Amino acid sequence: SRTLVFKSDDKDFEAGLKQAAGIIREGGTVAFPTETVYGLGADALNADAVHKIFKAKGRPADNPLIVHIANIDQCSELAEEIPANAFKLMEQFWPGPLTLILKAKDVVPDVTTGGLNTVGLRVPDNPVALELIQRSDKTLAAPSANTSGSPSPTTAEHVFNDLDGKIDAILDGGPTDIGLESTVVDMTGDIPTILRPGHITAEDIRKCVGDVRIGYADRTLEESEVARSPGMKYTHYSPKTKVILIEGNIKDVHKAMTEIVLDCHREGERVGLFVTEETAKVVNADEIYSLGKRNTPSQAARSIFMGLRHLDSTNIDLIIVDGTLNKEGIGAAVFNRLRKAADRIINA
Ligand code: TXA
Ligand code: MG
Repeated sequence: SRTLVFKSDDKDFEAGLKQAAGIIREGGTVAFPTETVYGLGADALNADAVHKIFKAKGRPADNPLIVHIANIDQCSELAEEIPANAFKLMEQFWPGPLTLILKAKDVVPDVTTGGLNTVGLRVPDNPVALELIQRSDKTLAAPSANTSGSPSPTTAEHVFNDLDGKIDAILDGGPTDIGLESTVVDMTGDIPTILRPGHITAEDIRKCVGDVRIGYADRTLEESEVARSPGMKYTHYSPKTKVILIEGNIKDVHKAMTEIVLDCHREGERVGLFVTEETAKVVNADEIYSLGKRNTPSQAARSIFMGLRHLDSTNIDLIIVDGTLNKEGIGAAVFNRLRKAADRIINA
């Protein structure tokens, strides 16, 4: 069946929002913008509705969904035994790109939590998202609105390309601001533990609540390893084209990159570069997408998924990613996604 698209800059968007809220109330699926990436939402407490999300994305059933709420007060509908530290983080960072893992109340169905006794909650910082939650009068379970395993969607067009015909509607609010998914923090143990890095950094969290642990690895976990967050077990962000990430000092990275491009050209293969502006001045290939300036990883955050999707759509045999980008601040989150997207990481 057809997927409806409502654009937030159309003059009848008001009617579109109303219709979208109705679809949620009736147990349907609606993709919506957040400040991070687009989410695919359904009524979090309606198991049948949430099943539709898993089906549309092809998502493994044990990978839980984040529930999007409109304000701090709604937490107590879904979670219990909420620690004081969690409230501190909510007050400082919500609405915003921070997901807190809390003990779930029984009302939250297993399909939403992936069968865990915890639930991830966040208040998104986007007016369209907040309107959809408020008007539907539901809390919204919403993973990123992409096909499972492919790069996360930062525009409505990305959502449409992946999910047209598989979901009921898309609210198009333009490109997202941050471009990377929220920081996920497990608040159920003694010390807050970061399960996925994002725009809100470990340092930001430490300043707010003191001790914080890093509980993620920049790679897909092996089957024998215990995943604190089920998402850690699954391949992520992978374009169809092979991806090589080259890390190391700047000169060595440029040298290795140039050699690989030459090798590929000798084999008659075409190469796409996903590189900083500085690197683009030194190395050339058949397609180039910019990660922005080396010392501005927030620019890279905004373009990483767009760039991977774009390069994947051009006629190339290999994508080479520039590991000279600054790894500080949100740079840590960018490298987490780049390393997971890479088929191979070279330390030059
Ligand atoms: O920015 C975001 O977080 C976006 C927007 C739409 O809000 N959502 C998003 O959802 O990225 P998703 O499903 O693509 O990623 C959610 C991550 C997964 O790695 C999942 O395993 C983890 O959060 N997660 C969700 N609930 C969890 C729980 N109860 N315990 C541990 N990890 C959980
Ligand atoms: Mg996702």
